[in-house]
Amino acid sequence: MSSKINESDSAELRKRQAQFTKELHGDDIGSKTGISALISKNRSAQKEAVAKYLKHWDGRTDETSEEKRLEDYNESTHSYYNVVTDFYEYGWGSSFHFSRFYKGETFASAVARHEHYLAYMAGIEKGDLVLDVGCGVGGPAREIARFTGCNVIGLNNNDYQIAKANYYSKKYNLQDQLDFVKGDFMNMDFEPNTFDKVYAIEATCHAPKLEGVYGEIFKVLKPGGVFAVYEWVMTDKYDASNPEHRKIAYEIELGDGIPKMFECQVARDALKNVGFDIIVDEDLADQDDEVPWYYPLTGDWRYVQTLSDIGTFFRTSHIGRKFTNIMVSTMERIGLAPEGSSKVVTALEEAAVGLVAGGESKLFTPMMLFVARKPLVEEPKSSKK
Ligand SMILES: C[S@@+](CC[C@H](N)C(=O)[O-])C[C@H]1O[C@@H](n2cnc3c(N)ncnc32)[C@H](O)[C@@H]1O
Repeated sequence: MSSKINESDSAELRKRQAQFTKELHGDDIGSKTGISALISKNRSAQKEAVAKYLKHWDGRTDETSEEKRLEDYNESTHSYYNVVTDFYEYGWGSSFHFSRFYKGETFASAVARHEHYLAYMAGIEKGDLVLDVGCGVGGPAREIARFTGCNVIGLNNNDYQIAKANYYSKKYNLQDQLDFVKGDFMNMDFEPNTFDKVYAIEATCHAPKLEGVYGEIFKVLKPGGVFAVYEWVMTDKYDASNPEHRKIAYEIELGDGIPKMFECQVARDALKNVGFDIIVDEDLADQDDEVPWYYPLTGDWRYVQTLSDIGTFFRTSHIGRKFTNIMVSTMERIGLAPEGSSKVVTALEEAAVGLVAGGESKLFTPMMLFVARKPLVEEPKSSKK
């Protein structure tokens, strides 16, 4: 499957996505979050966005269905984030990723520490020009810019999230260090050899082919530059021919808008194939942590660390998600929330079930840490994108 699209198709797609975003979210993007943003969406556009996201998710895991999801990765992910961003911000905050947890640590400090650790492993320094691939609403970029003094460009194919990220930069007075731009990480517009460092947090798993996104990252990094990633992968324990394993992977794909969950070795090989030297290769979820990374989704109150986390834990736990489901379904029935909102909550519920099952069985990790360097002198590639 070719992951490259020609320039006029790409310009047309951008235009269409930008127009649709305006229609769906209106002009006042950014200032509203969570439930208040949800209820102010355009009804028919929301219905269309939900349909676009869910059209590939009919329970089928055969090759043809998978191929369709891979081909439609851009539109499908764009639609997914159009409809889930408000729920993510409501339940989780403005950094859309998991973290390890130490005993006694608050949810917010664990999230920030996880971001600091990636910045540290990438060797990000004051004044570096850094690319954040798949930047969400900019939570990690804001934290890493404050932590290191670097400048970050966030790349994202979702217009709604970019508008929100820019809104927050202004709100927190970080415009001098941050910029957020629209683009597909499979076809980057940046000049080759532009960035000192590149990082990606739980985003490149949306790629239809990892060589595609890693190859683009390799291209835009300066020679000697470093790429650090928390990758979502199925671990070496995963067996795609085992229906129980495949069910877990499918739940994660469906509820997280991922065309295909790849195995860890696929990611490792892809990094090497595009020319990177891997310097760190470690699953941070495979640590026997007392408080597991997936605890906010478990509903197990024993893990709640501090009083300040009760609100977050309630919203993300099983019972809190049930409550959200009932609340959103009721709002949809009485016309307060747009049609399709409860379908989104149901898909997110499936994701949570798959993520916890994947975490408990160690078949899945959201924090496969790779740190890779672009050699100073490029070697011939062993395979093409
Ligand atoms: C789980 S979110 C993580 C966001 C961010 N890294 C964070 O930790 O807050 C995945 C992000 O990848 C972005 N993304 C997915 N596919 C993309 C693509 N083809 N090009 C650019 N960004 C993409 C999504 O829009 C979303 O912002």
